[in-house]
Amino acid sequence: MATADVLTLFRTCYGAEPDVIASAPGRANLIGEHVDYCGGPVLPIAIAARTAVAVRALPRGAVSRAVSAYGVAGLATFDPTAALPTGCWTDYLTGVARQLTARGVELPRMEIAVASGLPVGAGLSSSAALEVAAAAAFTALAGGELTPTDLALAAHRAERDFVGVPCGIMDQFASALATDGHALYLDCRTQAASHVPFADAVLLVDTGMQRALVVSEYRRRVAECDAALGALRRADPSLPDLAAATLEQVAAAALPPAYDRRARHVVQEVARVHEAARGLAATGHVDGALLYASHASLRDLYECSTPTLDWIVTWAARQPGIAGARLTGAGWGGCALVVGEAAALDDAALRLATDFTQAFGRQPTWWISRAGGGVAVEKGHGEHGR
Ligand code: GLA
Repeated sequence: MATADVLTLFRTCYGAEPDVIASAPGRANLIGEHVDYCGGPVLPIAIAARTAVAVRALPRGAVSRAVSAYGVAGLATFDPTAALPTGCWTDYLTGVARQLTARGVELPRMEIAVASGLPVGAGLSSSAALEVAAAAAFTALAGGELTPTDLALAAHRAERDFVGVPCGIMDQFASALATDGHALYLDCRTQAASHVPFADAVLLVDTGMQRALVVSEYRRRVAECDAALGALRRADPSLPDLAAATLEQVAAAALPPAYDRRARHVVQEVARVHEAARGLAATGHVDGALLYASHASLRDLYECSTPTLDWIVTWAARQPGIAGARLTGAGWGGCALVVGEAAALDDAALRLATDFTQAFGRQPTWWISRAGGGVAVEKGHGEHGR
């Protein structure tokens, strides 16, 4: 879808054929929330919806241009070597271009088009999908050789260091490394990744809430976890990160109450991810009790849920054939994730339309997806894609 759309957009806008098209998916995290920036393990899947980036090389000295079908922008000119962000959506492209240049990929000036099937602001990592797809498209255009891990790291640094969101590595790694029918088990301390079978599907229900708080509250949680780690290191200077702590260490540190809650969430969430990964490896199914426990912890200890997310999770627990549910992504709005067999999710979604509308006076937005594949270069390889 996104690939066909981006080709049409590129032709319409530039009256030419792109040299390269690459696409990358959004993600839904099965479990392991707010632990990636603490060195913990995560278990995301790539969802079916993707963002596609089409590019064509321009002669030396030409002005780079980009257009997005998101509708947030018409045709924008931008400087892929700019040292500072401008506040325009093209910052994502500049951030990626700078990261690739730093890795030795020599980029030409470019015409770029972006199209996506991913909703922006729903917590499904539309920004990571854009960064990873751009990284793959630019690298292929320049005839560069980067591994999916390199692409993920370049995309992550673009977001963290250039766009300026202090996120962990989960979203970009999921978008770059995921494989069909599997969840990605990613150890965020070592960046080691493996794939575990995931046989079910997910129903993603968008709360539709404005996520105005996300960036400021997210920053605050990152700082609280850093402070908690600092306090724990006074007793054990060798502690690598907060995810490596034990509940006993947290209790002994007598942290201020908010830090104590954050630290207990992280330590217990890490244990839940390990258990969920063992279950997936053995059966292909995730233990739903772990999902509900994760949600309760995010609600009570990490304090990043909302009444609408809580409502969806409580509603899901009453539906037949559902394994489990929880908020997914950063929280403070965004999406809830409901896991089960695809047929059960289809039925549940029909009931959701009625029950959600009754509760909130508006129709819900939802998607059903299986675990899909990661980044792909879909047209053109090698120097300038020719
Ligand atoms: C956002 C961030 C991720 C991760 C999640 C919470 O999606 O981009 O790095 O921290 O929140 O698990």
